[in-house]
Amino acid sequence: MGLRERLARQIRETGPLTVAQYMTACLHDPQFGYYATRPALGEDGDFITAPMVSQMFGELIGVWAASAWSLLGEPPQVRLVELGPGDGTLMQDLLRAARAAPGFLRAADVWLVETSPPLRTLQLERLEDRVRWAASLADVPEGAPLILIANELLDCLPARQFVRTAVGWAERLVGLDPQARLGFVLSPTPAAGVLPDAAEGAVYEQSAAQAALGSEIGARVARDGGAALLVDYGRDEPGFGDTLQALKAHRKLGPLASPGEADLTVHADFPAVMAAARAEGAAAAILTQAEFLARMGIGARAEALVRSRPAAAPRIGRQLNRLLAADQMGELFKACSLHAPDFTPPAFEDA
Ligand SMILES: C[S@@+](CC[C@H](N)C(=O)[O-])C[C@H]1O[C@@H](n2cnc3c(N)ncnc32)[C@H](O)[C@@H]1O
Repeated sequence: MGLRERLARQIRETGPLTVAQYMTACLHDPQFGYYATRPALGEDGDFITAPMVSQMFGELIGVWAASAWSLLGEPPQVRLVELGPGDGTLMQDLLRAARAAPGFLRAADVWLVETSPPLRTLQLERLEDRVRWAASLADVPEGAPLILIANELLDCLPARQFVRTAVGWAERLVGLDPQARLGFVLSPTPAAGVLPDAAEGAVYEQSAAQAALGSEIGARVARDGGAALLVDYGRDEPGFGDTLQALKAHRKLGPLASPGEADLTVHADFPAVMAAARAEGAAAAILTQAEFLARMGIGARAEALVRSRPAAAPRIGRQLNRLLAADQMGELFKACSLHAPDFTPPAFEDA
């Protein structure tokens, strides 16, 4: 029995699932979940992320992390934490770039928070004895300033969806259609709780898991000092829209088409994450990915790479376009900082 059959049986026995329950099963079911069994990152896989587009991405985050440490007053120890490190490319590029700041590397106690056993194996191959692993941020020891990074983690945290009907909000659920296939249904009773007003047909997404992560990071930086950099595709203002999306072999599928066999995501809800962090005493700011990378000096880094390898100029030009262009990753992707209230991390001075 595969995940589809198991979910269908569960729905027959106990009723439709919330979209968040469906996402959790598709991504993390220990037997069939995408990240538990078959995450496929990269050109030959299902999707490609910024660290795989270009080494410049991880290198500039390395510069960001080392500069943050310096602005923090060069503490003798910092927890350098990456949440959802994928195949380890970002951390590898970050640590290489940070060799320019040996004091930072000595101070950095490096932790990876990863739920996927196959990805932990890849990270081990790439990063060997330089890092340690934790199952959650709560398992990373407190008591030192935090420098945390997470690229494309928020989008795989589960969200519920609500649809505005003529009579109020209803929750969008995963049920069974008359042919016993997975299909979307609406909750028969109105959704509880206060949701913003909207026109009929509007879809509203709410991710308790994203907000909980914002709270956890916010509380941590407010207490221990430091900053977190969260990069992801998502909104920088509250809004509506159905962003649930499945990707397999770089192609979009219906979200119910291949449970457990495709990556399944929603947009990051940065306003909710930032509000949750502020409620815990942290400060928060947001830039587009293009603004963040420009402020970190991606232009100069690209020129330096081209000077050392002139033949690579066309490839580096394509990478810059992919990371920065408004119709590529430059504006849809945002870089969000959650930081201690008395500290402004690099690039976010007037954000
Ligand atoms: C889309 S991949 C991004 C990988 C990497 N950051 C990159 O940019 O290439 C999502 C990563 O988050 C991890 N992940 C998913 N859910 C997680 C959770 N609840 N806690 C920690 N890591 C999680 C996945 O296993 C994977 O490493």
